[in-house]
Amino acid sequence: MNDQILEHNKTYWNDHADLWFGVTALPELGVYFPDETELNLFGDVTGQRVLEICCGSGHSLRYMAQHGAAELWGADISQKQLENAERLLTESGYSARLFCSPMEDPLPVPKGTFDLVYSIYGIGWSTDLDRTFRHIASYLKPGGTFIFSWAHPLNYCVGYSTDECRVVEEPDGSFRLTRSYFDENYFTMPVHDSTVTFANHKISTYINDLANAGFLIQRMVEEHSAAAQADAPHSAKARRALLTPNSMCFKARRLPIL
Ligand SMILES: C[S@@+](CC[C@H](N)C(=O)[O-])C[C@H]1O[C@@H](n2cnc3c(N)ncnc32)[C@H](O)[C@@H]1O
Repeated sequence: MNDQILEHNKTYWNDHADLWFGVTALPELGVYFPDETELNLFGDVTGQRVLEICCGSGHSLRYMAQHGAAELWGADISQKQLENAERLLTESGYSARLFCSPMEDPLPVPKGTFDLVYSIYGIGWSTDLDRTFRHIASYLKPGGTFIFSWAHPLNYCVGYSTDECRVVEEPDGSFRLTRSYFDENYFTMPVHDSTVTFANHKISTYINDLANAGFLIQRMVEEHSAAAQADAPHSAKARRALLTPNSMCFKARRLPIL
């Protein structure tokens, strides 16, 4: 079942990679969400060996290079995304070691050596969070940092139509509870001329799976950006972002012993 989901999503990303060129990349961390220049979660990455999970079109890897990272490594399930990443990085004068692999499988990277593993709007595609986090912990040095952003689980529960893939506001300006927060079953959503399938995990699932994989959570962010306030007069999505989070970000440290 999970293999079918991975294959389905991979086809989507291969067919639509160009539409996502640079769309969810550092310094952006999420939708109506403060960016890295505001949050400074990554700190100084100078000289670091960094690995991006779900590296997409390579824009976040380029950001890392521009901020002094010494070695760029990336992985993604989509060959087409990796071709775009390779081209972007080469044209920008950087090189990266890129692997085409689902994050649920172990990557052929040197274990226990990365200062930083991160993922910008990628982790929620995992069909096995527990396994994915354990792999990520194994790539990091003891004390190494793992940062990821993804849609906040409430994004898909409050005023959201998964049938239409959009925020839905009631005529009186309220937002209905449209999905149970406790429902972690896979669902399929239309995107462009296709569909994608994933599960909406509870915050406790992320926290417990991080803890089980050997991570100490250092920070979790679930704020909205100033842009939500500015766009609120003309955007239901922005109005909702003032009431409930669209995105979230975790920063965790790998404990010395896994
Ligand atoms: C929103 S994009 C991330 C973009 C990236 N942050 C950037 O800087 O371009 C999500 C990526 O996750 C990848 N992906 C989806 N499911 C995956 C999986 N199970 N394992 C690895 N990558 C996956 C997609 O191919 C896509 O490139």
